[in-house]
Amino acid sequence: MTAIFRLDASIREAGSVTRAVANSLQEKLVSGLSSPSLTQRDIGLSPLPSTAWAGAIFGPHIPEAQRTPEQVQGIALAAELADELIAADAYIFALPFYNYGVSQHFKAYVDIVLADSRFPAGGASPIAGRPAQLVIARGGGYGPGSPRHGWDHGTAWYRRVLEDIWQLDVEIIECELTLADVTPAMEQLRGLAAENLAKAHEAAHRNGQFMAERLDAVPVLDLVAGAR
Ligand SMILES: Cc1cc2nc3c(=O)[nH]c(=O)nc-3n(C[C@H](O)[C@H](O)[C@H](O)COP(=O)(O)O)c2cc1C
Repeated sequence: MTAIFRLDASIREAGSVTRAVANSLQEKLVSGLSSPSLTQRDIGLSPLPSTAWAGAIFGPHIPEAQRTPEQVQGIALAAELADELIAADAYIFALPFYNYGVSQHFKAYVDIVLADSRFPAGGASPIAGRPAQLVIARGGGYGPGSPRHGWDHGTAWYRRVLEDIWQLDVEIIECELTLADVTPAMEQLRGLAAENLAKAHEAAHRNGQFMAERLDAVPVLDLVAGAR
């Protein structure tokens, strides 16, 4: 059994590019695995409670019988989120770019996970080395030469958490200019936006297939060895 964990953070369902690209990836990944299981958490449509973080941070320092309901719930939620991550063999993170930065829901999610003692910030990660796909969508364009070059304050933090703090083996699929179709000022960029989207789906198919092959490789080798 290969356990996949998928996290979505877009605050919209219809029209969401991160969800659509992650769907392409998931389809290839799941269909390519001999024995897949999928756990999904949607923090965009079902946000985590805003009181959970403080509860998870301060609760463990209070004697159990004296904890507030928020502290009890915060500790339990941190454990639940950490359990989900630890139980997975591979990950899909579908994360949008909001207000030149990260999704507040993903920030809250990370804060709560890091409150669990198994995920000490700066310490060893219990999920180090596992493969992960990071799907990011941005409404505008932020590359060199664009008017807002340097304004992407989200991607680097997403990567810092997944690659450096949780030490996952991350591949990234990025899609820019997703607002071109609905923004008159971006009319000239619609062709490029369509190309970007098509490339993101192609990358998702490719990465999903490679990831499945990689994840299934160990059991396949075992089978070959067993047949000799
Ligand atoms: C509240 C809000 C704020 C946004 N802020 C930005 C922004 O600062 N820069 C940008 O390029 N796009 C911004 N966008 C556009 C999103 O990055 C874009 O729609 C992206 O495709 C979101 O992912 P999704 O399609 O999965 O929802 C914003 C969208 C919303 C809803």
